[in-house]
Amino acid sequence: MNSVDEKLRLQYLDAMGIQVWQPRIPLPGRQSQPGSAVRIEQDPMAERGNRPGAGIDSSEERWQELEARVATCTACALHATRTRTVFGTGSHTAKWMVIGEAPGASEDQQGKPFVGRAGQLLTEMLRALGLRREEVFIANILKCRPPNNRDPKPGEVEACEGFLKQQVAMVKPKIILAAGRIAAQNLLKTDAPIGQLRGRVHRYGEIPLVVVYHPAYLLRSPLEKRKAWEDLQLAMSTVEAREK
Ligand code: URA
Repeated sequence: MNSVDEKLRLQYLDAMGIQVWQPRIPLPGRQSQPGSAVRIEQDPMAERGNRPGAGIDSSEERWQELEARVATCTACALHATRTRTVFGTGSHTAKWMVIGEAPGASEDQQGKPFVGRAGQLLTEMLRALGLRREEVFIANILKCRPPNNRDPKPGEVEACEGFLKQQVAMVKPKIILAAGRIAAQNLLKTDAPIGQLRGRVHRYGEIPLVVVYHPAYLLRSPLEKRKAWEDLQLAMSTVEAREK
């Protein structure tokens, strides 16, 4: 990273409310260079990302068809209360995919994920990693807003799961960030608390998955941003290990 990039990264970390320090002694099991710590079995068939020629099997027609199916979906009761479906936004050949829980009020109005205050913080978190929001694919477990932002019901998650699976299969990201407990538990099919799920690399099918605190939670609990930054660094290390 050159000094301009580094300055920008520090500015974004500052915007996240994170003071940066480097440990003098590498932490156990980790090296001081982000990226060199995590080893993941390489899957040569999964070598994809934001690269030229990566879009062969993610043609725009398939994306349009999927988006149209989401827009007209009536598979669960949420279709009756939604304003708009929230399909997902970003690069169809992204290396990074962020999966949140469900649209909130602003997302339901605008038809885009993570557009409220939590979305702004998510954008800052991505920028701290050197990523522009547009180069990441951002989606949710549910494509429709649950009334009063209640937790998704199992039947709703099940009805929507095929859409998300298809999005993941078409993007073929190198890493998935599960934003928050609900996303993490549903993607990993577990009831484990987020404190147990964060801090390690899971898999969603073949794809490494790292759990991060939901940005809305980080807005309420700014002291946890330090841990969120550690999780983002773990994700970055995981991507870098796959690229070696
Ligand atoms: N929270 C989420 O999990 N997803 C959004 O799109 C917005 C807020």
